[in-house]
Amino acid sequence: MAIELTVNGTLHRLDASDDTPLLWVLRDHLGMRGTKFGCGAALCGACTVMLDGDALRSCVMPLQALAGRSITTIEGLSPDRSHPLQRAWIAHQVPQCGYCQSGMLMAAAALLKRHPRPDDAQIDEAMTNICRCGSYPRVRAAIHAAAQEAS
Ligand code: FES
Ligand code: FES
Repeated sequence: MAIELTVNGTLHRLDASDDTPLLWVLRDHLGMRGTKFGCGAALCGACTVMLDGDALRSCVMPLQALAGRSITTIEGLSPDRSHPLQRAWIAHQVPQCGYCQSGMLMAAAALLKRHPRPDDAQIDEAMTNICRCGSYPRVRAAIHAAAQEAS
């Protein structure tokens, strides 16, 4: 089945079975390996991307549901790591092993679209991603820093 999908501003015509999860499309069909596989069951958030500006766990989203939609992945967050969140992530040295971090960043980017100055409760509600390295306090500090810089 052929589906047209915009990823990071580029229109792609994809020929894959309609139940292929978006995560597989991104990694295997388009070669974008920044989005990670963790649980495959919408639980951990490692595979988070943005769908029309909202956070989406791509491991459980079938291609057939995405025709004509617009996806942003970690590769499209900025061309040169200049997004306020990326700068704050570096300044606060958020990542440890790094595996969960592209999903964390995309969830945070979607949060800032909804709430440009989120409070702790809004961060807790939005940031349900799992980090085995326990980067949660640094994630929170970096989101506050990025929100402050962007406002
Ligand atoms: S890999 Fe998608 S939520 Fe864990
Ligand atoms: S930084 Fe290692 S899992 Fe989050």
